[in-house]
Amino acid sequence: MCGIVGYVGDRQALDVVVEGLRRLEYRGYDSAGVATVTAGVLHTRKRAGKLGNLEKMLAESPLPASTVGMGHTRWATHGAPTDRNAHPHLDDDGRVAVIHNGIIENFATLRHELEQRGHDLRSDTDTEVVAHLLSEEFEPAGRDLAEALRRVCRRLEGAFTLVAVHAEVPDVVVGARRNSPLVVGVGAGENFLGSDVAAFIAHTREAIELGQDQVVELRRDGVTVTTFDGEPAEVRPYHVDWDASAAEKGGYDHFMLKEIAEQPRAVADTLRGRIGPDGRLHLDEMRLSDDELREIDKIVIVACGTAYHAGLLAKYAIEHWTRIPCEVETASEFRYRDPILTRSTLVVAISQSGETMDTLMALRHAKEQRSRVLAICNVNGSTIPRESDAVVYTHAGPEVAVASTKAFLTQVVAVQLVALYLAQVRGTKWGDEIAAHVRELATMPEKVDQVLDTVEPVRALARTLVDARTVLFLGRHVGYPVALEGALKLKELAYMHAEGFPAGELKHGPIALIEDGLPVVVIVPSPAARSVLHDKIVSNIQEVRARGARTIVIAEEGDAAVEPYADHLVRIPRVPVLLQPLLATVPLQVLACEMATAKGYDVDQPRNLAKSVTVE
Ligand code: F6R
Repeated sequence: MCGIVGYVGDRQALDVVVEGLRRLEYRGYDSAGVATVTAGVLHTRKRAGKLGNLEKMLAESPLPASTVGMGHTRWATHGAPTDRNAHPHLDDDGRVAVIHNGIIENFATLRHELEQRGHDLRSDTDTEVVAHLLSEEFEPAGRDLAEALRRVCRRLEGAFTLVAVHAEVPDVVVGARRNSPLVVGVGAGENFLGSDVAAFIAHTREAIELGQDQVVELRRDGVTVTTFDGEPAEVRPYHVDWDASAAEKGGYDHFMLKEIAEQPRAVADTLRGRIGPDGRLHLDEMRLSDDELREIDKIVIVACGTAYHAGLLAKYAIEHWTRIPCEVETASEFRYRDPILTRSTLVVAISQSGETMDTLMALRHAKEQRSRVLAICNVNGSTIPRESDAVVYTHAGPEVAVASTKAFLTQVVAVQLVALYLAQVRGTKWGDEIAAHVRELATMPEKVDQVLDTVEPVRALARTLVDARTVLFLGRHVGYPVALEGALKLKELAYMHAEGFPAGELKHGPIALIEDGLPVVVIVPSPAARSVLHDKIVSNIQEVRARGARTIVIAEEGDAAVEPYADHLVRIPRVPVLLQPLLATVPLQVLACEMATAKGYDVDQPRNLAKSVTVE
């Protein structure tokens, strides 16, 4: 949730660190801070608010040249987002600086003990205790900062990525990881640390993923990784296959617009290499044998936010193709209700970042109950796929805007692939039926592109809706999760009250909300595939319109029945019913993005949000 960068090498550390922070700002933007070491002296600058505030401060009050440094952008957990609570935090003498992502659960006890020993803690954060503890351990650890950090980590409870520098070891940056992400970037004569590879991708594409409970010592000429007990640790070096330009805006005003536009490619990349010439699917990272897949008698999907909506869609696909009962649960609720899990339950954890703590904890709970876990994830090597038995990566590329767009579409593709693959292995559908659907799936990049070509009127429509107090979204069958996703996008971006309902529920309460001029967005199922459902939703449109609603209807090409009742009609190509969400979601993303822009809001970094929620 916070962004972390560390550097040691020959360049000006501050330039590298601030540039890295800019790429990580999506992780949190309540405050930002840096620390460097020059000639045995530690220097820091930190400021509440976005990175721009810190940059202004650095311009007014520059730091001396340094080749060792670290930086942080914060998403506040303990303590208000003020200058005082911004990272880095220091010990009493200002010799050690620490930055942190996560939550130190036993910080209150540690703080009390430190205060009893005469330390003066100046912030409200949980992080500051680490700076004081490191300071205490430095001498006993033989002035070895990595060893001091290992000793401190053994006393910490909770989730943390920590990075620290010390005035007396000016050529070293140390880091530690438990339950929060930290990646090493390996350069020539320089090395980097980052919450994710975006922090250093402009300098190196060679990375090392740190495992759980590991400490890294970074020097100009090398990287040493150990366990918290000081044993040499096994690490996984890898090559990052996307470049810096993929993390840039590429000419768009916002990352979100760029990411919406990238959806045809993201969908194509997620399908690439997975469909054989005979229409059979190959999921190489599945890592569960066919026998194991045949044993599954229940599937439980856990995810949060937008990924949860992809999970809701997975249920339709999985139950249709495999006839295996499937439940979908908000990850944050899952482990608290004692769910029924057995060895033959497959738990599917869906997460763009692979670091969402609620989803990770749900996954761990499932593993404790001996269930098998399959991750659907976008970030290679992140914690959720690492801890899962199998993984299907969505190849959306880096998603920087906080509101998820292309990751969602690729998650929907991935769940289709998983459902069809299970059907293929278990023989629950005829091979040619599966192959026909797979062929349709393969046409989706082109169809998403067609939708993108026709969204201009949606932009114009969005600008007329900015004064609405509420927007309702209605859908049925797979249109219902799309309605939820449309409402979530509007809440998080345009800060508007929005609700998604199954259209059939209208008469059971929500219809009371309808008043003159209230915008109601309706996602209409294909008239071909399920005509009863289609006819019912056409009735629902009439019901809300009769009560004064302004109807915005998303319907397939050729669906003439909706025309008399649509104040605004958005057309999408005709596709098999289970694939319609891949198209119907796109205008809703555009609608929310445009409404937020029209209201003057920061589309890429909406207030109070962070890209990956690495605390529970
Ligand atoms: C909404 C959004 C969030 C995330 C949720 C899960 O636009 O981005 O609701 O979908 O926080 O994040 P991941 O997929 O990283 O687990």
